[in-house]
Amino acid sequence: TLLDVVVNNDLNIEGFGACEGTVTCSTCHVILKPEDFERLPEEASDEERDMLDLAYSLTETSRLGCQIT
Ligand code: FES
Repeated sequence: TLLDVVVNNDLNIEGFGACEGTVTCSTCHVILKPEDFERLPEEASDEERDMLDLAYSLTETSRLGCQIT
């Protein structure tokens, strides 16, 4: 997942991925370019959508980084 990329590369993004991918936070919220959003292999699950609803500055191309593979 995108969260794995952040963790495995020691990227210092403060607070990113607080729940470690258990879809109980929205700290991994990312806003994608429309062309990148369209290329994702899977749509957001109901669980992801529920958590995205709590994300700050939600957009049409928002996703949770821990759910992007
Ligand atoms: Fe918490 Fe993605 S890391 S929802």
